Amino acid sequence: MSDPSHQSDSTDAADSSRPADSSAENPNSAQTTIYAVANQKGGVGKTTTAVNLAACVAEAGYPTLLVDIDPQANATVGLGLSKQESPTIYDVLIGDATIAQATNATEIENLSVVPSAPDLAGANVELPRIAGSETILRDALESHRGQYRFIFFDCPPSLGPLTVNAMVAADRVIVPVQTEYYALEGLADLLDTVGLIQRELNPRLVIGGLVMTMHDGRTRLATDVEDELRKHFPGLLFESVIPRNVRVAEAPSFGKPVTHHDPHSAGAGAYFELAKEVALRG
Ligand SMILES: Nc1ncnc2c1ncn2[C@@H]1O[C@H](COP(=O)(O)OP(=O)(O)O)[C@@H](O)[C@H]1O
Ligand SMILES: [Mg+2]
Repeated sequence: MSDPSHQSDSTDAADSSRPADSSAENPNSAQTTIYAVANQKGGVGKTTTAVNLAACVAEAGYPTLLVDIDPQANATVGLGLSKQESPTIYDVLIGDATIAQATNATEIENLSVVPSAPDLAGANVELPRIAGSETILRDALESHRGQYRFIFFDCPPSLGPLTVNAMVAADRVIVPVQTEYYALEGLADLLDTVGLIQRELNPRLVIGGLVMTMHDGRTRLATDVEDELRKHFPGLLFESVIPRNVRVAEAPSFGKPVTHHDPHSAGAGAYFELAKEVALRG
């Protein structure tokens, strides 16, 4: 694929010398960066990463929107909403609601969410029947660029129509990688898909970075996988590594990001660090 490097532009809104950027009163002054959190493997930490990154940057004062595009609706529930919200992202994708109508506030200041629900699974069948369906999410969000500083998509565990919609609408892809055996399996396919979408549908799209999740630095396997990742993807790995941490695992059952459930836990600390890197990259 072509250059997947991070773009660091001079309009970096993480620069604290630009006070308007962290002001919810004047959100239209900020540029928006849209991140798709994607990996077609399930259980690698996509939802956990999307929810906690969104919570951290929101807490830092940036108006932030999390769009749940996984029919499992784990991000929706992890932010304290139910799987029975209406309207949802499904209604937006089939043209029955707008993003504004589907947007809900959360308990976290500056963080809004567009919920998902199990019926979103139907979109995998319905979207391919609609001409030009790859751009529905991008078009729906167009008028919201500028309203939020950051938008995150929590993608489903596939490279199907929903993930394609996310990648077409996104500026960058964040790839959570669990440092386990088979961690690298599928990464080539994922990077190929990003390259294809970049060429065909969204020239802006780049890899924002790979983040190691559920890392257990005491095991030989985890450190071997880390070495492999550093060898294969130099420059693409975030410095911050997310440790395996029970507080992270239990936070969703409280409907909260770990950064609110237990801000002093190792998991929360790691997500705060990752969020700083993300904000610095703009
Ligand atoms: N750093 C972590 N430490 C412990 N458990 C984690 C951590 N990250 C994720 N988990 C747990 O692992 C499971 C899969 O994570 P999840 O974010 O839902 O993955 P995905 O969205 O890729 O399927 C969930 O039960 C989650 O709570
Ligand atoms: Mg998930």
